[in-house]
Amino acid sequence: MGSVLDDQQVATFHRDGYLVVEDFASKESCAALKAAAEEIVDKFRPPTRPSVFRTDEQTRVSDREFLQSGGGVSCFFEADAFGQDGKLRTEKALSINKIGHAMHDLHPEFERFTYTPELASVAADIGLADALALQSMYIFKQPHIGGEVGCHQDATFLYTDPITVTGFWFAIEDATLDNGCLWAAPGGHNTALRKLFKRAAQSDEAGTLFAELDPTPLPSPSELVPLEVPAGTLVVLHGLLPHWSDVNRSPKSRHAYSVHCISAAAEYPSWNWLQRPANMPLRALAA
Ligand code: FE2
Repeated sequence: MGSVLDDQQVATFHRDGYLVVEDFASKESCAALKAAAEEIVDKFRPPTRPSVFRTDEQTRVSDREFLQSGGGVSCFFEADAFGQDGKLRTEKALSINKIGHAMHDLHPEFERFTYTPELASVAADIGLADALALQSMYIFKQPHIGGEVGCHQDATFLYTDPITVTGFWFAIEDATLDNGCLWAAPGGHNTALRKLFKRAAQSDEAGTLFAELDPTPLPSPSELVPLEVPAGTLVVLHGLLPHWSDVNRSPKSRHAYSVHCISAAAEYPSWNWLQRPANMPLRALAA
């Protein structure tokens, strides 16, 4: 299909490092994705956690689950979801922070939402005609407890050489100042990558570490602009753009879905935390 974005939108993306496209996804497709996410959580049986008195063991278990999630569909809890006794403090459906990281290839509803000619066209319009869908996340931002996501650049977490990671973030529910909308630093994609998040070793058991590349601090929240957007909006995010989202202190959830893509022509180092199993090669966004 032809272009989805006009020249002005493409120019805005390259100038600011992000682009807001309202009415990209239909209300029906947002509702279907939300129902699919809620069903995944409903069927999910939380594993029994070691008690917090054995912190090392708990960390080792969560590290392994996280590092294996690149090729699966896993539910991740909010911080402090578990009490001292190793049990959930509140009901499961309100304790989940997000689902990740391969629903786009393993769940038909997520696959349908992700692999569309329209999204492939948006990627092509901004210079990513050979986009591969690397990772997907469904973020709940639960009422009252949905946690902050500190200011970061996505290329820290999904690195390619050269840097090509691009985020496609969809508001599945209205995102407002009250319920923890995205904030972005206009033009911040023209600054250096600050950090890399790496596997400590080529093992799912070894954990992860940050390696500093550039000591320049990321912008503080006062230097960012809020992106309050209605459900159905697509926000395209350059991999170097500093962005942040606040705690949700409101009684309303703020569901969002994001897909991160990379160029097929770029190198994806094996020290990236997210690795797909050999029998699950990445798929092109474009058919
Ligand atoms: Fe991000």
